[in-house]
Amino acid sequence: MTLPTRVKLVEVGPRDGLQNEKQPVPAATKIALVQRLQEAGLKEIEVTSFVSPKWVPQMADAAEVMAGIARQPGVRYSVLTPNVKGYEAAVLCRPDEIVVFGAASEAFSQKNINCSIAESIERFQPVVQAALQSGIAVRGAISCTVGCPYEGDIAPERVKMVAQLMYDIGVQHVGVADTIGVGTPLKVQRALEAALEVYTIDQISGHFHDTYGMALANTLASLQMGVWQFDTSVAGLGGCPYAKGATGNVATEDVVYMLHGMGIDTGIDLDRLIDAGAFISDFLQRKSLSRAANALLAKRQNP
Ligand code: HMG
Ligand code: MG
Repeated sequence: MTLPTRVKLVEVGPRDGLQNEKQPVPAATKIALVQRLQEAGLKEIEVTSFVSPKWVPQMADAAEVMAGIARQPGVRYSVLTPNVKGYEAAVLCRPDEIVVFGAASEAFSQKNINCSIAESIERFQPVVQAALQSGIAVRGAISCTVGCPYEGDIAPERVKMVAQLMYDIGVQHVGVADTIGVGTPLKVQRALEAALEVYTIDQISGHFHDTYGMALANTLASLQMGVWQFDTSVAGLGGCPYAKGATGNVATEDVVYMLHGMGIDTGIDLDRLIDAGAFISDFLQRKSLSRAANALLAKRQNP
């Protein structure tokens, strides 16, 4: 078993984390969160989504947030763009990377982006082409690669099919997402293997929601396959408004604690990351969902 020696984490808290919050989060708070995350050493931050404000009101301030962040050299800022309209608004904010998001489940595709899988690829195609022509990196997210809130179990062949469709339109990297956190290690490995029939190990990442408490186990199972890129969310924030009952992504603090304990480098300062998580948890008036952060915060109070 060869584990990666270095892991890249894409912090999705400002986007996946906050998109699901019912209470308004001011743009200034989102900007301050991004600032704290980059100060903690995160080099990839998914900042916001250029989606319909009617569908996801919390992301209505996407342009304001992008304009307000103090960009740090060496950090890549990404945004979600579901269609040309979203891309045209996003590109004015100079993202380093855009993310098109599809699904391995037809029903979820309809609920989340109001079109079939085939139609979604047609919508993504001009977005991907325009981004690549402008030198903007393109990532694809594949939702429901293990299970779907509407269709139940999803076969790995569906994941391979969507990965192939994304590859054919020029998507450079795919995130294999367990949107509702139902996956267990072997199922997640099968979904990753399906994506690996199309993309290389350097072109895929894991995106695991932690609804059933399996996300760290699924991260470890991915590491054992050589996967070295993961989306994680500070304080375990997150969920998708169109995946009812799903909780947040695996907490960045928990993944960093695990990786550092395994001697795997992330470039992240766990103490400062915990500060970032405490900042947003205080704002939301909620205890962090990160077990490691809560344990280390308790230790700070009572060394
Ligand atoms: P639609 O209604 O089919 O779009 O929505 P439309 O093209 O028919 O347009 C309808 C209206 O929306 C028009 O406005 C458009 O201008 C407007 P009106 O004329 O009625 O005033 N519109 C837009 N406005 C702003 N930005 C845009 C945009 N596009 C159209 N980009 C659409 C299609 C995709 C826009 C809609 O379904 C939508 O916004 N969905 C949001 C879905 C979403 O954000 N989900 C959460 C993110 S995905 C996720 O969390 C999963 C992930 O984490 C991985 C995982 O865990 O699985 C990535
Ligand atoms: Mg997600």
